[in-house]
Amino acid sequence: MSTPAIPDFSDPETFERAMPHESLAWLRANEPIYWQRAKSGARPVGMDDWPEARGFWLVTRYDDLQTISRDQATFSSERGTTVVRDISPDLLDRLRIWMINQDHPRHTRLRKLINAGFTPRMIQRMEQHIRDLTRSVVDGVARRGTCDFVADVAAELPLLVIAELVGAPVEDRAKLFDWSNRLIGFEDPDLQGPTGQQDTMLEMFEYAGALAKLRRDDPREDLTSVLVNAEVDGEKLDELGFNMFFILLILAGNETTRNAISGGMLALSEHPDQKQRLVSDRDLLPTATDEILRFVSPVIYMRRTATRDVTLRGQKIAENDKVVLCYPAANRDPAIFSPPDAFDVTRDPNPHVAFGYGPHYCLGANLARMEIQCIFDELLRRLPDIEVAGPVRRLRSTVVNSVKSLPVRFTPEG
Ligand code: HEM
Repeated sequence: MSTPAIPDFSDPETFERAMPHESLAWLRANEPIYWQRAKSGARPVGMDDWPEARGFWLVTRYDDLQTISRDQATFSSERGTTVVRDISPDLLDRLRIWMINQDHPRHTRLRKLINAGFTPRMIQRMEQHIRDLTRSVVDGVARRGTCDFVADVAAELPLLVIAELVGAPVEDRAKLFDWSNRLIGFEDPDLQGPTGQQDTMLEMFEYAGALAKLRRDDPREDLTSVLVNAEVDGEKLDELGFNMFFILLILAGNETTRNAISGGMLALSEHPDQKQRLVSDRDLLPTATDEILRFVSPVIYMRRTATRDVTLRGQKIAENDKVVLCYPAANRDPAIFSPPDAFDVTRDPNPHVAFGYGPHYCLGANLARMEIQCIFDELLRRLPDIEVAGPVRRLRSTVVNSVKSLPVRFTPEG
């Protein structure tokens, strides 16, 4: 393999152009623990008087991603959070209220509590809702013949599902959509709203507080009602804990699933033979869903911080160094997936790590799978010739592998 140009993996523009699979493949084979220097002069967010941003170790092999994800004692989610950028100490404290930014034992306790609301029964109960919501999303475009797949299809469903899950009224979904865009799209100038991230968090916080109060007084069959009233080992989720979890849900469950759906549409369009197989045999939807997740890898990075000096694959990593797990790279590791770059809707087994691995394994994995399956089931049944029909615009982000707009065309329903 000739050495490709190695881009700056800390720069969101790198991912706006395209996922740099060729460079990632080279690193995986030749420098699996790669030092990404910080851009000279770059400062952490909102910290102009802070020392320069630090570089990070980029991890591209599947085995290493698993080893690191499993070992919370050495590779902490809590010490520096899972966000790659350096963040100010007061923001650090607030972000550590999220389970995703905690280690054992805090994480274990909180996860147990949250699990009370994510039971298989709860998720199963969502299935009929998801089918109904999917139908209404496809109804919205089916007679038009063209649409923007991201705005009109992929963005709609996850938001409706989360609104349903937490029990937020459907008429509030535009508000939820706008908040989640402002929080995740912070690196993309197109999506930066008039207020900063902190103001957005505050607005969401107040909204969550009001919803929790409603459900404390008048519980219903939704996740909010379960969470505000759940007690595990004598512990309850306090108000701050619930409000922060609400924000985490909107963030973790919305953009990611949207990107899996739009990335899946793109992959199917670029691989017409695979799309045809799925159109003629929708029993392949379960394996196709996992292949979409592997191939797209909606989450680009999650960070850990070394809690001690450690050597990994001969590379010395110093205490407090940032160690960044690269999911799109691990999901195309030829040691595990053969052939790794092929999109194969029948791939089985498919032990991808798109949902992470170990103690922080995605809490919404089954919900997300159900959404992806339902939407492609409905789309391929009703609009089987749907295909990409115009330029794809990608998000400028180092967090999510995201398509911002995806024009599609199809024979309209009569
Ligand atoms: C295709 C869609 C999704 C992808 C690719 C995805 C990916 C991930 C990944 C990679 C992690 C692991 C983070 C780490 O190890 O540091 C994670 C954790 C998490 N995800 Fe997802 N996710 C998706 C959908 C969802 C949905 C629908 C929800 C909720 C409704 C959700 C809620 C969470 C939560 C709460 C965590 C933190 C779990 C913990 O810290 O123990 N995710 N997700």
